[in-house]
Amino acid sequence: MPLPVTVVLMLIPLACGENPAIQLILNSKGLQYGKHIGAGWIQEQLELITLPDISGEIDVYILGTVFYTLTGVTITKCDFPEPSVEFYQDATGLKTSIFDLSVATKGGWRINYGILHGQGSFNMAIFGIDVTSVVNLGKDPDGHPTVTSVSCDAQVKDMNIHFHGGASWIIQPFVDHLKGRIRGELENKICPAVEEYILNLEYHLQAMNVSFDVNQDLKIDLPLSSLPIIDASSLNLGLKGEFYSIKSPTEPPFEAQPFTMPERPDYMLSMGLSEFTLNSASYGYYSAGLLKALINDSMIPPRFPVHLNTSSMGQFIPQLPKLFPGLLMDLQCYAREIPLFSFLPGSVNLGFQGAIKAFVIQPNGTQTPLFKLDVDSEFSSQVWIANGKLKGFGKINNFTLTLVATEVGFFKTDNLEKLGRMGTALALAKLNEELGKGIALPRMRQAQLVNSVLEVNKGFMTVFSDTQVLLTDGGFN
Ligand SMILES: *[C@@H]1O[C@H](CO)[C@@H](O)[C@H](O)[C@H]1NC(C)=O
Ligand SMILES: *[C@@H]1O[C@H](CO)[C@@H](O)[C@H](O)[C@H]1NC(C)=O
Ligand SMILES: *[C@@H]1O[C@H](CO)[C@@H](O)[C@H](O)[C@H]1NC(C)=O
Ligand SMILES: *[C@@H]1O[C@H](CO)[C@@H](O)[C@H](O)[C@H]1NC(C)=O
Ligand SMILES: *[C@@H]1O[C@H](CO)[C@@H](O)[C@H](O)[C@H]1NC(C)=O
Repeated sequence: MPLPVTVVLMLIPLACGENPAIQLILNSKGLQYGKHIGAGWIQEQLELITLPDISGEIDVYILGTVFYTLTGVTITKCDFPEPSVEFYQDATGLKTSIFDLSVATKGGWRINYGILHGQGSFNMAIFGIDVTSVVNLGKDPDGHPTVTSVSCDAQVKDMNIHFHGGASWIIQPFVDHLKGRIRGELENKICPAVEEYILNLEYHLQAMNVSFDVNQDLKIDLPLSSLPIIDASSLNLGLKGEFYSIKSPTEPPFEAQPFTMPERPDYMLSMGLSEFTLNSASYGYYSAGLLKALINDSMIPPRFPVHLNTSSMGQFIPQLPKLFPGLLMDLQCYAREIPLFSFLPGSVNLGFQGAIKAFVIQPNGTQTPLFKLDVDSEFSSQVWIANGKLKGFGKINNFTLTLVATEVGFFKTDNLEKLGRMGTALALAKLNEELGKGIALPRMRQAQLVNSVLEVNKGFMTVFSDTQVLLTDGGFN
């Protein structure tokens, strides 16, 4: 049963006032990296947009009213200084500022002035645009993250415009008069545009799923479980991080415990995972009755010294071949309790309490019960991240067999226990081979985790990581 551990590392959020089982921390270093990437992208986008038309009227005394329209205003050049983005505690959000942005634009103009109509093209330079936007980060009742504009302030210091073509001599004399107005119009258009962008982002956040099917049996709920926490140097998101059985989604008889991740501002991100998340997956499988297996002789590796037939098993249970000579057997194995993971400094432990019911297969196909053994075992493993892969190594700490019921009389279990431990070690060796090769860390289309380090603490594990955005020609989409 491969646990879909990697899935929970994906960065997506959902809801309840409980302790988050997954925490994501974005440090200043990550915010600055994100800003840097974002700024480059915005600069590219700016050069693609067409600004809204600007139109108005000027009363030119004596002459009357001149109606003007500037249309198809596109940005030809943009001097885009690095913006500043910071965590902003006052608004539980982010404050973004850009100072002294200058753009060169071009477009067409039209005027109606009495019986005169004129049109042509223009070049306009806009200097010293300052914009400061503050947004609040929150959560809605379903646990989606929310982003809302708290304040926006925009100023345009100066602009210059030059009209060409047609009857531009009509309009050029009013440039000084127009400049003040257009500057004001531009100033008034910046913040609504910023707010519309934020609304659009909010719309996408609302549409985001906060629950995902992991496979045909399990889903994971990742709503925000509490409001984002912001201080001067980090943003902390707490996610529910709970797996459920898709068929029988019920709450496990244990709860997520609070945990505090060590601070590592030298990494862009920290991602904390409580042992609760793994245990909820374990409960999901257990409660859906999926932690069981039927083992028959064809599953035993041919070279294994013991086979599932009564003569072979006679070395452990001497009476068996006498009672049922020359018959095949099979074993029903299942978990008696929810297998529980516990995280301790440096190791991940798993306790497994199971049972084995042994049957003999009669020549007519009937399965006759022979005996029942309880299995109590404990495993421990080391896990780490190397070369962008999650690796690990597991071992058996404890394996005991107890005879709890028998139809064939008493027998000693010591040697069966040795055999069971050997079989388990063999299965574990296969698993270790896979864990040694490593499981690739989840990666998104445009970003991957780099320099990742994993640390196991009591009750939780943390992955500290930087990220690298892989900008393809498509940019972000
Ligand atoms: C969200 O979940 C629904 C239902 O599970 C699914 O149909 C839809 O495709 C999902 N949307 C995304 C963007 O994953
Ligand atoms: C053992 O189980 C497998 C899968 O359930 C089945 O395909 C196979 O025929 C079984 N073998 C025997 C010997 O019963
Ligand atoms: C039982 O298993 C042994 C190997 O341990 C094998 O040699 C023997 O042929 C098997 N008997 C039957 C009836 O399958
Ligand atoms: C199958 O064989 C066993 C042992 O010979 C016998 O006890 C049982 O009644 C038989 N079952 C059927 C359905 O024939
Ligand atoms: C092994 O399990 C037994 C029975 O559950 C327990 O008493 C013993 O302490 C365990 N040993 C180790 C090393 O965990």
